[in-house]
Amino acid sequence: MKWQPSYATGDAEIDRQHRALFETTEDYREVLSEGAGKNTYDGVLEFLMAYVEAHFGYEENCMHAARCPVAGRNKKEHAAFIKMLEKEVEVQARDGFSHARAMVLVDSIDNWLASHICRIDVQLRNFISPKK
Ligand SMILES: [Fe+2]
Ligand SMILES: [Fe+2]
Repeated sequence: MKWQPSYATGDAEIDRQHRALFETTEDYREVLSEGAGKNTYDGVLEFLMAYVEAHFGYEENCMHAARCPVAGRNKKEHAAFIKMLEKEVEVQARDGFSHARAMVLVDSIDNWLASHICRIDVQLRNFISPKK
C-alpha cells in the first residue's frame, strides 16, 4: 500500500513516518510474493515494533500538544495495534515462520494503517498549523 496525499496530517514528520511504514510493508510484501521472506521476518517484526512505538509516541505527543479531540482514541487504537504485533511476535517465536501468516500480517498492517490514518491521524491537521 502506498501513502496518499489524503493521508496528510499537517505534520511533515508524522507523514514521513507513515510513508516509511507503508514502504516497509510494501517492500516485505514484494519479498513474500517471490516466495521468500523467511530469513528476514524476525528483522521486519523487530523493525516494525521499534518504529511503530517511536511513531506512536511522537504522534501522541503532537495530538496532546495540539489538544486534538481524538487524542485519547488515537492512543487506544495504537495500544490495540501494538497488541496485534506483539501477538504475532509471540506466535512467530513459538511456531516459527509461516508464509501465509506473514501475508495476513502485512495485509492487516496495511488495512489498519489506512483506516486509522484516515479516521484518526488526519484530524490533527485541523488543530495544528502546518510546518514548512
Ligand atoms: Fe495514530
Ligand atoms: Fe500515525
